[in-house]
Amino acid sequence: MYLDNAATSFPKPENVYEAVLHAMRDVGASPGRGGYRRSLEAGRTLFKARETVARFFSVSDSSRIIFTQNATGALNLALQGTLSAGDHVITTSMEHNSLLRPLYALRHRGVELTIVPAGSDGVVSAEDVRRAVKQNTRMIAVSHVSNVCGAVQPLQQLSEFCREAGALFLVDAAQSAGHIPVDVERFAIDLLAVPGHKGLLGPGGTGILYAAPHVRLKPVIQGGTGTNSTAEEQPLAMPDGFEAGTHNLPGIAGLCAGIEFIGSQGLSAIHIHEQRLLSQVEQSLKNIPGVTIFGPADASTRCSVLSFSASGVDPALLALELDHGFNIAVRSGLHCAPLAHRTLGTQPAGTVRVSPGWFTTSEEIAFFSDAVVQCIGKIRRSA
Ligand code: ALA
Repeated sequence: MYLDNAATSFPKPENVYEAVLHAMRDVGASPGRGGYRRSLEAGRTLFKARETVARFFSVSDSSRIIFTQNATGALNLALQGTLSAGDHVITTSMEHNSLLRPLYALRHRGVELTIVPAGSDGVVSAEDVRRAVKQNTRMIAVSHVSNVCGAVQPLQQLSEFCREAGALFLVDAAQSAGHIPVDVERFAIDLLAVPGHKGLLGPGGTGILYAAPHVRLKPVIQGGTGTNSTAEEQPLAMPDGFEAGTHNLPGIAGLCAGIEFIGSQGLSAIHIHEQRLLSQVEQSLKNIPGVTIFGPADASTRCSVLSFSASGVDPALLALELDHGFNIAVRSGLHCAPLAHRTLGTQPAGTVRVSPGWFTTSEEIAFFSDAVVQCIGKIRRSA
């Protein structure tokens, strides 16, 4: 049983598998790298995917959508492509290393960094972020939803404070896209980083960066674009200049199919289904003595994941028992977000994280809950 959709969603909808195979078997060529019909067809596949992504995030100009390898690639481009020495960036203690590590690296290049601590429930106070604004604040960078405890951050308020500060608003939607609405216009997002393989149900090796028209982005990877071949400098044209090298067309075709699948089911239906399952997990875990659930107390302000630990039980051992004893896949430990665990008070062992998806059933959650009781009992008895 797969309960680690926050790492990558599985299984994928049938139309995603079909789209990947179609791009590989039937299209077969590289977009923008030839004038022959197969390459033109590949170009159409790429364009359709770009338009589909743009519509999904309420972006009016699809040329502002850049396909990347994953959300990490998108975040690196967003950060390295906009920040320079002397710029100040505000982020939070709930961030994933995909945002933190590029920022730490930029600190060595003269970028100033403020990390605003979230509350012990993982929710960031927008007022605290506002207080951290300085004269040279160039960017506020936050994850929409915590990958550790599912806390949904106050994007609307953060966006308003960001506007006041005249800073760029970078949102990491790794854990929200495909679960709750992520509307670029509504939240006045300047830079949006999204993985294709999580909530959007696409294949691994896909990601997206949206850059608003006023964002002056510098490319971080140089190479062939299929255009402007005599130019020594990397072309700055969107999106080609930022997608050097051959595209992952099968992956992008699959990502497009994933978004189409979400459209066919309805984002709100997916959200309601996942919230019901998470609430079922919460109700059953609450009855187990010594179990603590982390994150916001109000389940409606939590999204897509639930993290817990049991007193006297190593989360890694519990995850191992669930896998080996019951064939249940969950992720334990620090989830590449050490500051988030420090904030929640769950360092160094971390937590066990459960993340059901659209294809998870209520029966599976009941089976999981029974398995947790048995595994905790076994570990405690053998301690
Ligand atoms: N960021 C992914 C996770 O939280 C991989 O598991």
